[in-house]
Amino acid sequence: MDFSLSEEHLMIRDAARDFARTELLPGVIERDNLQKFPTEQVKKMGELGFLGMMVDPKYGGGGMDTISYVLVMEELSKVDASCSVIVSVNNSLVCYGLEAYGSEDQKQKYLTKLATGEKLGAFCLSEPEAGSDATSQKTTAIDKGDHYVLNGTKNWITNGGTADFYLVIAQTDKEKKHKGINAFIVEKGWEGFEVGPKEDKLGIRGSDTHSLIFNDVKVPKENRIGEDGFGFKFAMKTLAGGRIGIAAQALGIAAGAYDLAREYSKVRKAFGTEISNHQAIAFKLADMHTSIEAARHLVMKAAWDKDQGNNYDMSGAMAKLYASQVAMDVSVEAVQVHGGNGFVKEYHVERFMRDAKITQIYEGTSEIQKIVISRGLLRD
Ligand code: CAA
Ligand code: FAD
Repeated sequence: MDFSLSEEHLMIRDAARDFARTELLPGVIERDNLQKFPTEQVKKMGELGFLGMMVDPKYGGGGMDTISYVLVMEELSKVDASCSVIVSVNNSLVCYGLEAYGSEDQKQKYLTKLATGEKLGAFCLSEPEAGSDATSQKTTAIDKGDHYVLNGTKNWITNGGTADFYLVIAQTDKEKKHKGINAFIVEKGWEGFEVGPKEDKLGIRGSDTHSLIFNDVKVPKENRIGEDGFGFKFAMKTLAGGRIGIAAQALGIAAGAYDLAREYSKVRKAFGTEISNHQAIAFKLADMHTSIEAARHLVMKAAWDKDQGNNYDMSGAMAKLYASQVAMDVSVEAVQVHGGNGFVKEYHVERFMRDAKITQIYEGTSEIQKIVISRGLLRD
């Protein structure tokens, strides 16, 4: 068993670390306060190849493995989880979904632009009444021969206002339940497609989250992904990999909060000594570091499973379940180590605490991860 990273992995990790410190850190508090989308930063991430990391170079991607991807996700999330969710959706939901299941024409037309960052993507599964219960799709896609007509509303869509291309899941044949669901590529600006208001959120405030409304939107048949009825499996298979990205995001949030807490504990004095000399604080750091290391092992194992061609439904779900709890616990403790300053925006840790919460909710809540894991365990 070899736990060391290759030279290539170290290089990509260091490039992401450097980028996060120099390009994401300045302005991160302002973007959070103002709910300002990181337009410039996303453009630069596209230029660096962070938006299509695992896509085959023949479609404009970086041709990298999942280990490289999670290393980048962790480093970006150590500084700005709003930026990392944009990276995660574009890479592991939109680009992956298209590359794995799209037609050659769809890849040429859409993937090549998404992988280079020229265009941004969104993944639209959730609805007002279909979040965890994702098979209960109310959005309809009626087959009209050479095209489909899309009607309905999607909720909480990341990159909802800023994306150019949207992967939209909808019900074509209700009788067939999940086997009658399809996935489509929809372009911004198509008649009848409206972006709803931006959500005012607790965390990841730099990323834009919107509802989307489809009113008799005509979608050409060639924009359906896969065979008729493949849409739900498409969503599940794609989300299985997406969860590894969010697990890495949670890991990065925890690691970023821990780094700040450790540094602070070495300079802040109370009762005549640095607070790190008080065992209560030193032991907190020990617990934080241990749980982060455990989360990192689960994240790396899930990424490794994907790279090896192993099934990663369970390892991805376990990584997300555990790392998101660690993100929550560690960020709360990081605020505690900072005392009153932890409650002040300037010190960053309160933002980590707010950002951590979403990792237990999106791409399947923690309860849903337990459903995935337990079903996997109990399957023959
Ligand atoms: N791979 C392939 N097929 C899968 C699968 C997988 N990982 N998981 C389920 N399926 C298939 C099943 O085999 C079944 O098909 P068959 O009938 O042909 O066998 C079909 O899907 C239905 O499966 P279930 O009976 O298990 O469905 P269910 O109603 O019990 O729900 C669930 C299963 C795991 C709870 C699922 O609904 C789920 O994952 N819910 C959470 C939704 C979610 O994660 N949303 C995230 C939205 S995107 C997002 O959030 C992005 C972001 O924030 C940035
Ligand atoms: P519900 O399904 O209503 O769940 C409510 C509670 O009940 C949760 O605690 C849940 O775990 C629990 N629960 C539900 N069913 C069960 C069960 N069977 N057993 C045990 N507990 C259960 N979606 C997209 O499609 N694309 C996106 O880009 C996207 N981005 C998002 C960004 C943000 C900031 C947010 C907040 C959400 C985003 N989502 C996105 C939606 C997200 O995936 C859903 O919010 C999530 O899947 C939960 O669905 P829900 O909100 O409807 O909660």
